Amino acid sequence: MKYHVPVLLNESVNGLSIKPSGTYVDLTFGGGGHSKLILEKLNLNGKLFSFDTDDDAIKENKIKNDNFHLIQSNFKFFDLHIKERGINKVDGILADLGVSSHQIDNKERGFSYMGNNKLDMRMSIKNDLSAEELLNNYDQNSLQNILFEYGDIKNSKIIAKEIISYREKKRIRNNEDLFEAIQSISEKKLSYKFLSKLYQAIRIEVNDEINSLKEMLEKSVEFLNSSGRLVIISYHSVEDRLVKNFINKSSFNSDFNKDLYGRKIEYFKRINKKPIVPTDEEKALNTRSRSAKLRIGEKL
Ligand SMILES: C[S@@+](CC[C@H](N)C(=O)[O-])C[C@H]1O[C@@H](n2cnc3c(N)ncnc32)[C@H](O)[C@@H]1O
Repeated sequence: MKYHVPVLLNESVNGLSIKPSGTYVDLTFGGGGHSKLILEKLNLNGKLFSFDTDDDAIKENKIKNDNFHLIQSNFKFFDLHIKERGINKVDGILADLGVSSHQIDNKERGFSYMGNNKLDMRMSIKNDLSAEELLNNYDQNSLQNILFEYGDIKNSKIIAKEIISYREKKRIRNNEDLFEAIQSISEKKLSYKFLSKLYQAIRIEVNDEINSLKEMLEKSVEFLNSSGRLVIISYHSVEDRLVKNFINKSSFNSDFNKDLYGRKIEYFKRINKKPIVPTDEEKALNTRSRSAKLRIGEKL
C-alpha cells in the first residue's frame, strides 16, 4: 500500500516559489511526496531540511541526496535543529498538517475508528499520552472542552459524561469500548461524520497539535528570509483559522497584532486571498484531500 498520496502537491510546492540554490524546510515529511518535488527544483547548492516526529516516516524514507537532511523531531523544535546545522535563515517553510494515510491505515497505530483497534493515536511513540490514557484519565470538563473545541461536537457535555460513567465500570481500551460508552447518545448507529469529528478531537489533544502549530508559526517569522514563503496545508477549521489569522493579522485571533504604539504588526503578505483547495479531479482521486486548504504568506 502507498505510504501517502501527497495533497495539493504542485500548488503547495509552486507556492514556495523555489530558488534553486535556496534553503527550504518541509516540516511534515510523511511519505516524502512534497520533499521529493522540492528536491527536484533545487540545484547542488540548494538545501532541504525535512522533519517528522513519526518513527515510521523516518524508517520508510527512500530519498538519499547530499542536499537533503531528514530529522526526527516535533516541528515545534525545527529552529533548534537547523541552527545546530548552521542555518539561521531559510527561503521557504512548508507544512502539510495532520496525519498521513500510513498512520490512519495502519490499525496498530489506533488512529482509525474502523475495526476494533486499541486507542492510541500517538504520532510519536515517545509521547506519554495515548488516546487510551486520555479517555481514561481526563476529567469531564477537559473532555468536554476538547470535543467541543477540536471536534466542534455540539453535545460534548453529554458525551463526556457518558465516557466518565462507562470508565467507572470498565476501562476504555479500544474502539468498541468507546462506541459502547457513547452509543446511548443516539438511537441510530454512530455516523461516520460524528466519529470523524470525535477521533479528530482526541487526536489533536493526544499530539498537542494546536500548541505545536502555534509555536512553529511564531518561529517561522524569525527564520524566514524577507520574501521567503510560508506554505501551510490544513485539514480542519481550528488549524485553518490559526494559519489564516497568523498570515493575515500576525496573530492567532481575528484582531491585528499591534506594537506598543498601537501600530499593526505585519509579518506576511498573503499570496492567496482565498485558500487554495483541491480540484474536483484531485478530490475524486484522493478522498483524503477533500478538506485540504492551502494558505501562502510571503515574509515582509
Ligand atoms: C499529512 S502527512 C504529510 C505527508 C507528506 N507531505 C507527503 O506528501 O507524504 C503529515 C505528517 O506530519 C507528521 N507530523 C504531524 N505533526 C507533526 C509535528 N508537530 N512535528 C513533526 N511531524 C509532524 C506526521 O507524523 C505525518 O507523517
